[in-house]
Amino acid sequence: LLTTAIVSTLSFVFAPAASAETAGTSNWTIEDASKIERTDDTTAPYIEPDFEKMAPELHVWDTWPLREKDGSIAKVNGYYVIFSLTADSDLLPGKRHDVATIRYFYSKDGKNWELGGKAFDTEQAYGSRQWAGSAMIEDGKLNLFYTATGRKGEENVTYEQRLALATGDVEANGKGISFANFDHSIILEPEGKYYQTEEQAEAGDIGYTFRDPWFFEDPKTGKEYILFEGNSAGTPAERTLDPAYIGSEDFQSSFDFVNQDFAKRFNGAIGIAEATNDSYTEFEAMPPILEANYVNQELERPHIVTKGNQYYLFTNTHEHKFGPDLTAPDGLYGFSSDQLTSGYEPLNESGLVLANPEDHAYQAYSWMVLPNGKVISFYNFHDLDGKNIADLGGTSPEYQMAHFGGTLAPTLKLAIQNDRTKIVNEQAPGKIK
Ligand code: FRU
Repeated sequence: LLTTAIVSTLSFVFAPAASAETAGTSNWTIEDASKIERTDDTTAPYIEPDFEKMAPELHVWDTWPLREKDGSIAKVNGYYVIFSLTADSDLLPGKRHDVATIRYFYSKDGKNWELGGKAFDTEQAYGSRQWAGSAMIEDGKLNLFYTATGRKGEENVTYEQRLALATGDVEANGKGISFANFDHSIILEPEGKYYQTEEQAEAGDIGYTFRDPWFFEDPKTGKEYILFEGNSAGTPAERTLDPAYIGSEDFQSSFDFVNQDFAKRFNGAIGIAEATNDSYTEFEAMPPILEANYVNQELERPHIVTKGNQYYLFTNTHEHKFGPDLTAPDGLYGFSSDQLTSGYEPLNESGLVLANPEDHAYQAYSWMVLPNGKVISFYNFHDLDGKNIADLGGTSPEYQMAHFGGTLAPTLKLAIQNDRTKIVNEQAPGKIK
């Protein structure tokens, strides 16, 4: 996502974790990322732009399934549910982030989706619009985590981002599923020590992020967390280069920055916070799980899949979010560790798990790996002649409308073996089961 930082007032919610200082944030280094290269195992098949949209009246992008607390996909009264960011399909695609609304779809087979409607009454939600999150059902209650972006009633769109929770009742009957009686809470804001505040970013950075809360129950400890997309704290002036950001000692001695001052402004981080009450309305920020200082600016929609003793941490990013010393595609990137908060090493050596084919480099985005190894994403753009269409600014409205996918892309099946992954096959668009 491209955003412009705009001043707003933040209230600081912060309590240092007792064990915080001993936890070791992992680095995605320049050395790792300089190895990024598409391979047969990491390149998705070309998508034919000929299948039907799941909801012709809507642009549909970031999507997440309703899960049980343990992360498995939930089935409620015979229905699977997915939540998606949506906007009217007559809107220019680049404008959709300013009006994003969370809607849900339900399905008996986990493949053919019926539009349910808005997840909740947006008047009651925090933010002038709502961005991505995650959803978990526990004791019949829906816990829908989302990003509250901007403020209610603002005259011009602003980009303040706060993590929020909506809890509601689930009503299921023979005709589908619906949600009611929501309570909304703000559950976390950046505190400026581990995670950058909007004000810190305004002192010279290229943007700030604090979004995409994703619920995670650690199977090893039973503790509850949210992961989220953030940025390493502080202003650029306050930051120093840790040689560990570059890589091994060997690599450090052979590496010269193209533009170190600019690279410094790339400070993407994968955040984590632990739940401190049973209703998930309070969380304590912990040091980031992983940082990409001098490497990448946006580590979007982080999520974990566990297998055996390993945590597999996945995130999405764009080509243009890599720093000046690196060239890498829009993609799904991943890391693994046998500990939740430290020790992450990039999968496939570089971190690249999945990219679009080189001549259709922007065909899909916002991948999410499900516990069954299926990867969902949305169908983004087709045939843009290799242009970077991140903001679509350079093309006519007609061209934008004709070339925006705005629906779920074919699902991909991923095989994960130790620290290697492989795209195994392609399945129906939006298939989660
Ligand atoms: C990824 C993303 C998310 C954000 C949403 C806003 O596609 O940037 O991080 O929640 O889009 O539309």
